[in-house]
Amino acid sequence: MCGIIGYTGTANAIPKMMKGLSVLEYRGYDSVGIAAEQGSQTKIMKCKGRISVLEEKLRETPFEISHCAIGHTRWATHGGPSDKNAHPHRVGAVTLVHNGIIENDKSLRAALSEKGVSFHSETDTEVAAALINDFFAQSGDPVASIRAAMEEMKGSFAFAILFEGHTGEVFAARRGSPLILARGTDGYYLASDMTALLPFTKEYCALKENQIARLRHGDAKIMLEDSSKVDPEWNMTTMTPESAQKGGYSHFMLKEIHEQSGAAVKSVSPRIDANGLPDFSADGIEKDFWKDIQSMQIVACGSAMHAGLVGQRLIEDLAKIPVNVSIASEFRYHPPIMPKGSLVVLISQSGETADTLAALRYAKENGIPTLAIVNAVETTIAREADRRIYTYAGPEIAVATTKGYCTQATVLWLIAAAIALATNRIDNAQTHSITRALTEDVPAAIENMLTLENQYHRIARGLINHEHVFYIGRGMDYALSMEASLKLKEISYIHCEAYAAGELKHGTISLIEPGTPVLAICTEKDLFEKTESNIREVRSRGAQVTLICRNDLPIPPGTADETVLLPTTSDAATVFAAMLAIQYIAYETALLLGCDIDRPRNLAKSVTVE
Ligand code: G6P
Repeated sequence: MCGIIGYTGTANAIPKMMKGLSVLEYRGYDSVGIAAEQGSQTKIMKCKGRISVLEEKLRETPFEISHCAIGHTRWATHGGPSDKNAHPHRVGAVTLVHNGIIENDKSLRAALSEKGVSFHSETDTEVAAALINDFFAQSGDPVASIRAAMEEMKGSFAFAILFEGHTGEVFAARRGSPLILARGTDGYYLASDMTALLPFTKEYCALKENQIARLRHGDAKIMLEDSSKVDPEWNMTTMTPESAQKGGYSHFMLKEIHEQSGAAVKSVSPRIDANGLPDFSADGIEKDFWKDIQSMQIVACGSAMHAGLVGQRLIEDLAKIPVNVSIASEFRYHPPIMPKGSLVVLISQSGETADTLAALRYAKENGIPTLAIVNAVETTIAREADRRIYTYAGPEIAVATTKGYCTQATVLWLIAAAIALATNRIDNAQTHSITRALTEDVPAAIENMLTLENQYHRIARGLINHEHVFYIGRGMDYALSMEASLKLKEISYIHCEAYAAGELKHGTISLIEPGTPVLAICTEKDLFEKTESNIREVRSRGAQVTLICRNDLPIPPGTADETVLLPTTSDAATVFAAMLAIQYIAYETALLLGCDIDRPRNLAKSVTVE
């Protein structure tokens, strides 16, 4: 949802901006721009389109070497994608890039217009630039003018700002949107996400809410709200530049699909003790914590919410406590009744999703304990939650999540076992068999499913000429179907609906015509008979059926046109194998259709607006 970057130092800033923006492109890719100091002037170059368009423009009209610059890649909110709405925006002495939304931009725009400011774009960002410039014109002090503007702006923002007359200085501020500062041997950096800075440095510091930073050669300072200044507290990231590259795969999504067996193990093994029992003490969560949970409210968006649905089934089945799953954007408008003993669990790969963050804050304001399951370390949701469990999937770059979702589900499975053990629903031996399944059967099953590439390709060929596709399943398989349908839609643009297999006949079956693709998932032995009869219902109406099911079922001949068999070494192995199959089918379909797999249209990976 827009990516920002900035640099000041001894090296040439332009290639750094371009390199960093190419990593940040996953946050938005409808327009792009940079602003760089050229002597005492600040020059802007920006355009609608991808980074390649800006690269072409720079080849035609190169910038001189610059030691101080900011850059932006955009996901449009206020004003459509266009050259004039692209960032950076300049008003008077202020040039800035912005990630977030200024909610009161209309009233601010009106007030500034009355003062004689004329605007050239439809963006809220230009309003922010004008507001800061207005204060700067009075005080001449960059930090004071940012602070004064922050007091007037409602909404969320991360800014990187250049001020005329402050050569070699980049200013930054944040509220709600993420912003990382970093220190390299050749200068100081800032970015929406540390992955963009990995080619340059590993030393970082996350800017906190309402903080302002000033970066200049040899000096970085954070300005606190009480006007005092502090040095950033630098940390070393464990991410490597390679972890944010394709590593020989044709797409990040494919790479990330292949990384899942390792990621699944990384997410659970540090949380299993020598006796094979769940142990979250390294996350600061003691065993007794699980004992007192009487109900759980899972809140998340998109695939993370779908992982929550998988978790709901596991936790209710194993631990026998009620679990409710809410779409984060709905949570605040109709919050569920949460009695004493409730725990709100926020799931987020990016740790920055605005709706999930708002739900977290709502829970905290209402005194309900919160636990975040997050992949990106040191992000706002991870920081603000009372407790956090990192999924350790490593950087996920493809917009459509795969390893993020998979590791969220593994962690939820372990939490289900931890609660069930703490409340004596299962004994040590049963718990151990779950942790063994998660660390041994699951990675093996995922690796096994990676070998079926030809079959996924064949299935994909059967989907590409259809406008509508259905996924059906019961119980856990309904939850998996929802993710399967989202995956196919978001990257192949084929309309796909997920249906509880038994519900299809109550209306939607009227859409089944000869040839309509229906993919049925069956990971639960007890439900096969029923799902199989639902398959017969669609098949008798001409549907083209793909069955993704356990390898130990008595499948009557002629049930499906294509059957993907899932390993059954354990329940967990079967479920995670199904996840792999649905992701790979979506990938192959999008590949055949020539879609932009890692950057699907209209989407962004990190959705930092509500
Ligand atoms: C976006 C992404 C989805 C993701 C959702 C939640 O819409 O495209 O893949 O599931 O946000 O993101 P989060 O980072 O909170 O898991």
